[in-house]
Amino acid sequence: MALISKEMNDAMNAQITEELKSGYVYLGISLWAEERSMHNYAAWMRKQFKEEYEHAERFMKYIIATGGHVELKAIGEVPTVYPNTEATIKVTIEHEEFITKKIRGLLELAHEKKEYEAINMLQWFVNEQIEEESQSNELMATYELQGKKDGLWDHHLHRE
Ligand SMILES: [Fe+2]
Ligand SMILES: [Fe+2]
Repeated sequence: MALISKEMNDAMNAQITEELKSGYVYLGISLWAEERSMHNYAAWMRKQFKEEYEHAERFMKYIIATGGHVELKAIGEVPTVYPNTEATIKVTIEHEEFITKKIRGLLELAHEKKEYEAINMLQWFVNEQIEEESQSNELMATYELQGKKDGLWDHHLHRE
């Protein structure tokens, strides 16, 4: 018998789409930044794009390991045009807050269904979202600190 319930499988398939969509949104911001020669910001968002695809893969691996079935739904279009840098940072912050809510929803379902394996697996995402939210807030904090000057901010945006 599969360790994953039908409800959890469906919810995780939906989350795969959300993670891929997150990556796609960040790729759009990365391209926007690249067009403006904000190379460090572009590199940072490109790294986020790849990380989101890794998040999707974590769900895929879990579903398969617990006897479920992965579905790949449509991601949809994302913007590659933004009015300014601040708007792109806001999108990232709001998007991460949205994903945190989704992860919490999955965890609530796992508790409801007493799916201990899922509870355990989802803890990684709970921690990851603390980091993701803190990093995106940090982007805005440093942007404001440097007087919202794109060139200066991008220049100092040296990150791993
Ligand atoms: Fe993610
Ligand atoms: Fe994220």
